[in-house]
Amino acid sequence: MPSKQIPESIENRWDILYRDYAEIYDRFGRVPKTPTVVEALHQHFPLSGKTVADVGAGSGLSTFDLARFAAQVIGIEPEAAMRELALQAAREQNLPNVTFLEGSAEAMPLSDDSVDVVVGVTLASLYNEDNILAFDREAVRVVRPGGQILLVDIASGWYGGELAPVIRDKPDEDPYEILHDQTLRACGFEYLDFFTDQDYGTLDNIIQTFGFIFGRKAIQYLREHNQTTIRWKFRIHYKTVK
Ligand SMILES: C[S@@+](CC[C@H](N)C(=O)[O-])C[C@H]1O[C@@H](n2cnc3c(N)ncnc32)[C@H](O)[C@@H]1O
Repeated sequence: MPSKQIPESIENRWDILYRDYAEIYDRFGRVPKTPTVVEALHQHFPLSGKTVADVGAGSGLSTFDLARFAAQVIGIEPEAAMRELALQAAREQNLPNVTFLEGSAEAMPLSDDSVDVVVGVTLASLYNEDNILAFDREAVRVVRPGGQILLVDIASGWYGGELAPVIRDKPDEDPYEILHDQTLRACGFEYLDFFTDQDYGTLDNIIQTFGFIFGRKAIQYLREHNQTTIRWKFRIHYKTVK
């Protein structure tokens, strides 16, 4: 069998990444972050003893990190290739408090009032108002009264981390990011921001993962500056269910 021809970059086509290059996404996701997104989440919203649904679980990296703190974590993921990687890693680690289900942010395979917290870590699929409202309705349905909905995303203006100005075509804020924040605020979410530093170790690794995803402009910049780390600003949108 001839091996798959891999392009230099998928130029920000995350749909193609999840479907055809799940292993490269997984490698990108495994690059150490200090703190991890889940460590920052747990610091602000303690997860100990809680049942958590991790929506958009991907290859399971956020789910496994949540399982260090929460009592039980249910990873929900629509993309088969990503779910397969998650299931394989879960088997290898033999984690008793983790399960994975097929489903989406808009249709969670969970009963009413069945979890303490719904988490979405870089879910990024909430791209229009209808879609955010559908997620909010669904999360409110499955979270018990007094529980929380926590969405962690790259902060507005920080897509691509500190290389955002290099990657963006225009200096303006992205209208999608403005809409995203405004719609969540209208649904009753507040937010707080934190920083994390990601260390790729080598130039080859950062080009084959970050560069592969974020495009040729990023690759050129990383080569010119011999840069192997990326600083990110993340935003936690949070709300308590009444
Ligand atoms: C950037 S990955 C994040 C994975 C994981 N949360 C982590 O941090 O390791 C986003 C994931 O959301 C999934 N996704 C895309 N659309 C979705 C939807 N409508 N509902 C739930 N997940 C979705 C993608 O397939 C992908 O696996």
